Amino acid sequence: MTIAKPPEPETERATPAHYSNLDAVLESAWALLKDGAKNRHAAAHTPTLTTIGLDGAPRIRTFVLQGFEQHPCALRLHTDQRSTKISELRAHAGAALHIYDPEKKVQLQIDCRAELHIGDAVVANAWADTKPMSRIVYQVTEAPGTPIDDPLQAIRDPDETDGGAANFMVVTLQIEALEWLFLDARGHRRARFIRDGETWTGSWLVP
Ligand SMILES: Cc1cc2nc3c(=O)[nH]c(=O)nc-3n(C[C@H](O)[C@H](O)[C@H](O)COP(=O)(O)O)c2cc1C
Repeated sequence: MTIAKPPEPETERATPAHYSNLDAVLESAWALLKDGAKNRHAAAHTPTLTTIGLDGAPRIRTFVLQGFEQHPCALRLHTDQRSTKISELRAHAGAALHIYDPEKKVQLQIDCRAELHIGDAVVANAWADTKPMSRIVYQVTEAPGTPIDDPLQAIRDPDETDGGAANFMVVTLQIEALEWLFLDARGHRRARFIRDGETWTGSWLVP
Protein backbone atom coordinates (compact mmCIF):
# COMPACT_ATOMS: atom_id res chain seq x y z
CA MET A 1 0.00 0.00 0.00
CA THR A 2 1.37 3.41 -0.94
CA ILE A 3 0.95 6.31 1.43
CA ALA A 4 0.11 9.60 -0.20
CA LYS A 5 2.83 12.19 0.32
CA PRO A 6 1.78 15.37 2.14
CA PRO A 7 1.57 18.35 -0.25
CA GLU A 8 4.82 20.24 -0.74
CA PRO A 9 4.86 23.57 1.10
CA GLU A 10 4.43 26.45 -1.35
CA THR A 11 7.91 27.53 -2.37
CA GLU A 12 8.68 31.23 -2.34
CA ARG A 13 9.50 32.71 -5.72
CA ALA A 14 13.25 33.04 -6.14
CA THR A 15 14.54 36.56 -5.61
CA PRO A 16 15.23 37.95 -9.10
CA ALA A 17 18.55 39.68 -9.81
CA HIS A 18 16.68 42.91 -10.47
CA TYR A 19 15.55 42.96 -6.85
CA SER A 20 18.74 44.63 -5.69
CA ASN A 21 20.82 45.48 -8.75
CA LEU A 22 20.13 48.52 -10.95
CA ASP A 23 21.95 47.09 -14.01
CA ALA A 24 19.78 43.99 -13.77
CA VAL A 25 16.68 46.19 -13.51
CA LEU A 26 17.53 47.93 -16.78
CA GLU A 27 18.33 44.61 -18.50
CA SER A 28 14.98 43.20 -17.34
CA ALA A 29 13.18 46.27 -18.70
CA TRP A 30 14.85 45.83 -22.13
CA ALA A 31 14.00 42.12 -22.09
CA LEU A 32 10.36 42.95 -21.35
CA LEU A 33 10.21 45.40 -24.27
CA LYS A 34 12.00 43.01 -26.67
CA ASP A 35 9.57 40.26 -25.78
CA GLY A 36 6.65 42.67 -26.12
CA ALA A 37 7.64 43.47 -29.69
CA LYS A 38 7.81 39.78 -30.68
CA ASN A 39 5.27 37.97 -28.54
CA ARG A 40 1.63 38.89 -29.11
CA HIS A 41 0.67 37.21 -25.82
CA ALA A 42 3.00 39.42 -23.75
CA ALA A 43 1.46 42.28 -21.78
CA ALA A 44 4.12 44.59 -23.27
CA HIS A 45 2.76 43.85 -26.77
CA THR A 46 0.00 46.42 -26.24
CA PRO A 47 1.31 49.44 -24.31
CA THR A 48 -0.72 52.56 -23.57
CA LEU A 49 0.47 55.80 -25.15
CA THR A 50 -0.33 59.18 -23.66
CA THR A 51 -0.07 62.38 -25.64
CA ILE A 52 -0.98 65.96 -24.88
CA GLY A 53 -4.26 66.82 -26.61
CA LEU A 54 -4.55 69.95 -28.74
CA ASP A 55 -6.68 71.38 -25.92
CA GLY A 56 -3.91 70.62 -23.38
CA ALA A 57 -5.73 67.66 -21.80
CA PRO A 58 -4.05 64.22 -21.67
CA ARG A 59 -5.15 61.63 -24.28
CA ILE A 60 -4.51 57.89 -23.99
CA ARG A 61 -4.83 54.87 -26.27
CA THR A 62 -3.52 51.32 -26.75
CA PHE A 63 -1.19 50.38 -29.61
CA VAL A 64 0.62 47.31 -30.83
CA LEU A 65 4.35 47.38 -30.11
CA GLN A 66 5.80 46.65 -33.54
CA GLY A 67 9.46 46.89 -32.65
CA PHE A 68 12.02 47.76 -30.02
CA GLU A 69 15.66 48.66 -30.63
CA GLN A 70 18.06 49.17 -27.75
CA HIS A 71 20.57 51.15 -29.89
CA PRO A 72 19.21 53.73 -30.49
CA CYS A 73 16.73 53.16 -27.73
CA ALA A 74 13.35 53.39 -29.46
CA LEU A 75 9.98 51.74 -29.78
CA ARG A 76 8.03 51.54 -33.03
CA LEU A 77 4.33 51.74 -33.73
CA HIS A 78 2.22 51.82 -36.89
CA THR A 79 -0.67 54.18 -37.36
CA ASP A 80 -2.79 56.21 -39.73
CA GLN A 81 -1.22 59.59 -40.44
CA ARG A 82 -4.68 61.23 -40.30
CA SER A 83 -5.25 60.09 -36.69
CA THR A 84 -5.65 62.56 -33.85
CA LYS A 85 -2.56 61.32 -32.02
CA ILE A 86 -0.42 62.43 -34.99
CA SER A 87 -1.81 65.98 -34.90
CA GLU A 88 -1.02 65.94 -31.18
CA LEU A 89 2.51 64.61 -31.68
CA ARG A 90 3.19 67.19 -34.40
CA ALA A 91 2.25 69.92 -31.90
CA HIS A 92 4.08 68.32 -28.96
CA ALA A 93 6.53 65.48 -29.58
CA GLY A 94 6.74 64.54 -25.89
CA ALA A 95 4.71 61.45 -24.97
CA ALA A 96 4.49 58.88 -22.19
CA LEU A 97 4.02 55.18 -22.37
CA HIS A 98 2.69 52.73 -19.80
CA ILE A 99 2.97 48.94 -19.51
CA TYR A 100 1.95 46.65 -16.67
CA ASP A 101 2.90 43.00 -16.88
CA PRO A 102 0.78 41.18 -14.25
CA GLU A 103 2.81 37.94 -14.57
CA LYS A 104 6.12 39.67 -13.96
CA LYS A 105 4.45 42.16 -11.61
CA VAL A 106 6.38 44.92 -13.32
CA GLN A 107 5.13 48.36 -14.35
CA LEU A 108 7.09 50.54 -16.79
CA GLN A 109 6.43 54.26 -17.20
CA ILE A 110 8.41 55.62 -20.11
CA ASP A 111 9.04 59.22 -21.15
CA CYS A 112 9.68 59.46 -24.86
CA ARG A 113 9.95 61.73 -27.86
CA ALA A 114 8.12 60.89 -31.04
CA GLU A 115 9.69 60.91 -34.48
CA LEU A 116 7.15 60.81 -37.29
CA HIS A 117 7.99 58.83 -40.42
CA ILE A 118 5.97 59.52 -43.55
CA GLY A 119 6.93 58.26 -47.01
CA ASP A 120 10.50 57.33 -46.04
CA ALA A 121 12.41 54.03 -46.10
CA VAL A 122 11.26 53.17 -42.56
CA VAL A 123 7.64 53.36 -43.75
CA ALA A 124 8.32 51.44 -46.98
CA ASN A 125 9.96 48.57 -45.05
CA ALA A 126 7.23 48.48 -42.43
CA TRP A 127 4.46 48.52 -45.08
CA ALA A 128 6.15 45.71 -47.00
CA ASP A 129 6.06 43.62 -43.80
CA THR A 130 2.37 44.21 -43.00
CA LYS A 131 -0.11 41.46 -43.73
CA PRO A 132 -3.15 42.15 -45.97
CA MET A 133 -5.43 41.84 -42.92
CA SER A 134 -3.50 44.61 -41.11
CA ARG A 135 -3.76 46.90 -44.14
CA ILE A 136 -7.55 47.02 -44.09
CA VAL A 137 -7.61 49.55 -41.23
CA TYR A 138 -5.70 52.00 -43.45
CA GLN A 139 -8.27 51.77 -46.23
CA VAL A 140 -10.97 53.81 -44.54
CA THR A 141 -11.95 56.79 -46.66
CA GLU A 142 -12.36 59.25 -43.81
CA ALA A 143 -9.81 60.11 -41.11
CA PRO A 144 -10.04 57.88 -38.02
CA GLY A 145 -12.27 59.56 -35.46
CA THR A 146 -14.50 61.31 -38.04
CA PRO A 147 -18.18 61.16 -36.94
CA ILE A 148 -20.28 58.97 -39.28
CA ASP A 149 -23.99 58.08 -39.47
CA ASP A 150 -23.41 54.44 -40.38
CA PRO A 151 -20.48 52.23 -39.20
CA LEU A 152 -20.00 50.93 -42.80
CA GLN A 153 -19.87 54.41 -44.30
CA ALA A 154 -16.09 54.88 -44.18
CA ILE A 155 -14.99 51.34 -45.02
CA ARG A 156 -13.80 50.44 -48.51
CA ASP A 157 -14.09 47.09 -50.15
CA PRO A 158 -12.42 44.63 -47.71
CA ASP A 159 -11.02 42.65 -50.72
CA GLU A 160 -8.92 45.65 -51.69
CA THR A 161 -5.83 44.75 -49.66
CA ASP A 162 -3.23 46.82 -51.57
CA GLY A 163 -4.74 50.19 -50.73
CA GLY A 164 -4.13 52.21 -47.60
CA ALA A 165 -0.38 52.73 -48.08
CA ALA A 166 -0.91 56.48 -48.47
CA ASN A 167 -2.42 56.67 -44.97
CA PHE A 168 0.09 54.40 -43.27
CA MET A 169 2.93 55.81 -41.22
CA VAL A 170 5.45 54.78 -38.57
CA VAL A 171 6.10 56.50 -35.26
CA THR A 172 9.34 55.85 -33.44
CA LEU A 173 9.38 56.72 -29.76
CA GLN A 174 12.86 57.55 -28.50
CA ILE A 175 13.09 56.57 -24.85
CA GLU A 176 14.44 59.40 -22.69
CA ALA A 177 13.62 58.14 -19.19
CA LEU A 178 12.20 54.97 -17.76
CA GLU A 179 10.64 54.23 -14.42
CA TRP A 180 10.32 50.62 -13.24
CA LEU A 181 8.17 49.33 -10.38
CA PHE A 182 8.31 45.72 -9.20
CA LEU A 183 5.64 44.46 -6.82
CA ASP A 184 6.84 41.85 -4.36
CA ALA A 185 5.56 40.55 -1.01
CA ARG A 186 9.08 41.01 0.41
CA GLY A 187 8.87 44.72 -0.36
CA HIS A 188 8.31 46.54 -3.63
CA ARG A 189 11.19 47.97 -5.63
CA ARG A 190 11.17 51.13 -7.73
CA ALA A 191 13.88 52.72 -9.85
CA ARG A 192 14.23 55.51 -12.39
CA PHE A 193 16.69 55.69 -15.28
CA ILE A 194 17.58 58.73 -17.34
CA ARG A 195 19.33 58.54 -20.70
CA ASP A 196 22.21 60.76 -21.72
CA GLY A 197 23.27 59.64 -25.21
CA GLU A 198 23.96 55.93 -24.85
CA THR A 199 24.47 56.16 -21.08
CA TRP A 200 21.76 55.35 -18.58
CA THR A 201 21.91 56.64 -15.02
CA GLY A 202 19.68 54.83 -12.59
CA SER A 203 18.65 55.41 -9.01
CA TRP A 204 16.36 53.66 -6.55
CA LEU A 205 13.18 55.42 -5.49
CA VAL A 206 10.87 54.85 -2.55
CA PRO A 207 8.22 52.50 -3.97
C1 LIG B 1 -5.33 46.06 -28.57
C2 LIG B 1 -5.34 47.32 -29.39
C3 LIG B 1 -4.29 47.58 -30.24
C4 LIG B 1 -4.28 48.75 -31.02
N1 LIG B 1 -3.22 49.00 -31.83
C5 LIG B 1 -3.17 50.15 -32.54
C6 LIG B 1 -2.02 50.46 -33.32
O1 LIG B 1 -1.04 49.71 -33.38
N2 LIG B 1 -2.01 51.64 -34.00
C7 LIG B 1 -3.06 52.51 -33.93
O2 LIG B 1 -3.00 53.56 -34.59
N3 LIG B 1 -4.15 52.25 -33.20
C8 LIG B 1 -4.22 51.10 -32.48
N4 LIG B 1 -5.32 50.83 -31.69
C9 LIG B 1 -6.41 51.80 -31.67
C10 LIG B 1 -6.03 52.97 -30.75
O3 LIG B 1 -6.10 52.54 -29.40
C11 LIG B 1 -6.91 54.20 -30.97
O4 LIG B 1 -8.26 53.89 -30.72
C12 LIG B 1 -6.76 54.76 -32.37
O5 LIG B 1 -5.43 54.70 -32.83
C13 LIG B 1 -7.24 56.20 -32.43
O6 LIG B 1 -6.47 56.95 -31.52
P1 LIG B 1 -6.32 58.55 -31.65
O7 LIG B 1 -7.68 59.05 -32.04
O8 LIG B 1 -5.91 58.97 -30.28
O9 LIG B 1 -5.30 58.82 -32.69
C14 LIG B 1 -5.34 49.68 -30.90
C15 LIG B 1 -6.38 49.42 -30.02
C16 LIG B 1 -6.37 48.27 -29.28
C17 LIG B 1 -7.52 48.04 -28.31
